Amino acid sequence: MLPRCQLHPISIKLMRQGHPWVTLDAFSRRFPKEAKFVVGQDDRRMDIGVLLHDPNHKVVRGRLWSLTRPWDEKMFWNEVEQRLATARHVRLEIPSFKVRENRYWVFGEADNLPGLMLLQLGEHFIVQFYALCWREMFKELKPKLMKYFPEIKEEKLWIQTRSEDGSGQKPPTLWSGEAKIENFVVDEDGFKIIARLGEAYDYGVYSDMASVRYGLKNDLKDKKKVLNLYSYTGAFSLQALHLGADSVVSVDLSGKYLGWLDENIAKNNFKGEHRSLKMPVEEALKLLKSEGHQFDVIISDPPSASSDGNKRTSALKAYENQWQDLQDLLAPKGWLLSFLNTHTVSAAKFEAHLKSLPGNRLKISKRVGLKDDCPTFKGFQEGNYLKGCMWV
Ligand SMILES: C[S@@+](CC[C@H](N)C(=O)[O-])C[C@H]1O[C@@H](n2cnc3c(N)ncnc32)[C@H](O)[C@@H]1O
Repeated sequence: MLPRCQLHPISIKLMRQGHPWVTLDAFSRRFPKEAKFVVGQDDRRMDIGVLLHDPNHKVVRGRLWSLTRPWDEKMFWNEVEQRLATARHVRLEIPSFKVRENRYWVFGEADNLPGLMLLQLGEHFIVQFYALCWREMFKELKPKLMKYFPEIKEEKLWIQTRSEDGSGQKPPTLWSGEAKIENFVVDEDGFKIIARLGEAYDYGVYSDMASVRYGLKNDLKDKKKVLNLYSYTGAFSLQALHLGADSVVSVDLSGKYLGWLDENIAKNNFKGEHRSLKMPVEEALKLLKSEGHQFDVIISDPPSASSDGNKRTSALKAYENQWQDLQDLLAPKGWLLSFLNTHTVSAAKFEAHLKSLPGNRLKISKRVGLKDDCPTFKGFQEGNYLKGCMWV
């Protein structure tokens, strides 16, 4: 018999609106520590749903697994298999999925596999645990993954905990336990990007952005001058050069990432020119203005909070400071793509904020966000962390 535990009225309300999490509160704190599953109940002892219990997670103590009543623990692994099969089937129907080697086969809550991601980078697969309870079940999970994703090679299977469990942001490790750093080239829709596993928490490519890039292909065609702000290892720069840009400027604070970007460019065969600026974005905008540049495309993807080496600024504040310069640097028929990477600000608030900035003369022509292999769903704002607006 599974433990039945009363939930906070707010958890119940949110769950009824489609939210799949029970966060830490006075109610979830009392879930029995050893229980793998908990049946959440309301104050009249009515069952609400079965939760995957995560007693060691700092914030998310329960993730909705099933609304089926009655539910038995014996059903769990069959359901895991069904959900893995569905995740695979759905992705094989997505056109943008087929053209790249960096892609999510499983995307957690949106695939009804809460807190579990399966990412492919080239021949490598990384199982990402956002819910720590999966880590404990990995022995049972692994054969199921291998069954539904026969592309996985055991010696190229990595695991990584992506949850804050106090152990810090660790790199992925090979499932075999072997300590290794792997450098390899990944193809994304015709251009190459180097991924590195085993060295750091990040891999050199943000795969959740790949379907966004696919959706920009037509917009990028025939655009000659491109500015990529907060470029990281340059995925957007590589895409623009691949699609025929004459020149691309990439700006990032990090010499490591700009060096990586140079290596990425060397792996490709682009005709266009590339220039890196290792400096804070605000400084780069002033420099480019003083040099008299205008760009057909500006892409800005700041971290939710960034530092220029001295002070920390939120992405919204950074846009406030930069908006005038961004507009001045945009060619008359150009477009600017502004991203915000946080679930704490809604898309509506982000757009309204930018629209209301003094001197704004831009209008939104298109909205972009997570899609395809990284789906989102209504009621789960944490899963909808990426907001992008195209301005003209
Ligand atoms: C979210 S990543 C960008 C990801 C990239 N757009 C992609 O899709 O691959 C943010 C990058 O911004 C850089 N960064 C953070 N603060 C910065 C600043 N003030 N000026 C320039 N770059 C900054 C970081 O070094 C990091 O590479």
